[in-house]
Amino acid sequence: MVAVVTGASDGIGMEMAKILGSLGFDLILAARREKELSQLCYAIAKKFHVSAQAFVCDLSKEEDCRRLHAYCKGRDVRVFINNAGRGVIGPFLETDLDAEMEMLRLNILSTHLLFKLFSGSMENGFILNVASMAAFQETPLMAAYGATKAYLYHLSSSVNYEFRKQGKPVHVATLCPGSVATGFDKAAGVPHPLSGMSASECAEAAIYGMFRGRSVIIPGTKEKLARLAVKLLPREIILPMEYRIQGKKLGIF
Ligand SMILES: NC(=O)c1ccc[n+]([C@@H]2O[C@H](COP(=O)([O-])OP(=O)(O)OC[C@H]3O[C@@H](n4cnc5c(N)ncnc54)[C@H](OP(=O)(O)O)[C@@H]3O)[C@@H](O)[C@H]2O)c1
Repeated sequence: MVAVVTGASDGIGMEMAKILGSLGFDLILAARREKELSQLCYAIAKKFHVSAQAFVCDLSKEEDCRRLHAYCKGRDVRVFINNAGRGVIGPFLETDLDAEMEMLRLNILSTHLLFKLFSGSMENGFILNVASMAAFQETPLMAAYGATKAYLYHLSSSVNYEFRKQGKPVHVATLCPGSVATGFDKAAGVPHPLSGMSASECAEAAIYGMFRGRSVIIPGTKEKLARLAVKLLPREIILPMEYRIQGKKLGIF
């Protein structure tokens, strides 16, 4: 049985790969950084006696997404973790347009394409789409990132419902973490990151939640309460709160 993890060279993806290796899955791990991926594959294969292969690719490019899927064809893929993603922070008119376009390609087009290709070719198993708590409400000062995650959250939840109704034995879970201490903030240009849970804690909640058949996974008690608050409070309260949270990360407040 094979598990494929995108964005496995670091952060949450790396921790999810370790857990899947410990559960006996052979692994195909995808990201751009070859050295980090190869070291991880070597460590996992040695520790858990599974096969682990690095697939070096830039998933913001459509051809690399198709190449990854073609590489996995004919293998017994039972788990697909659609995790690679990036953020961009800042006032809408000041964010770098090229970085934002790359984020839209990676977080929307590529995650959509990979989700479609893998769910089409998997006969049964589990897919985990990694969204964010930013999917649940507007995120001024991180507007486009939140919008990309809202797209994935809605797509993933809707398709999971379709598959259940159609009796397709592929379970689609959506992971919606709050702040997690990874390289994500640095890559997104966040000057003052908020403290977050560890990547291993988040990964554990994600993998076991997915195997338990959860459709939406929100790791952490504080985060679950925050989700509830977003459901209950009016947008007039949520929007300024969210502006303040993102503003703190930028050092505005
Ligand atoms: N950290 C948080 O606070 C947080 C909260 C909510 C949701 N999330 C989501 O969780 C997911 C994982 O983020 P993380 O926190 O683990 O961040 P991270 O530590 O920065 O890891 C991101 C991973 O994605 C890979 N990646 C980035 N761009 C890529 C590209 N163009 N092609 C292939 N791989 C690419 C990176 O590998 P390479 O650089 O080697 O390519 C890395 O392995 C993302 O979808 C993120 O939006 C994170």
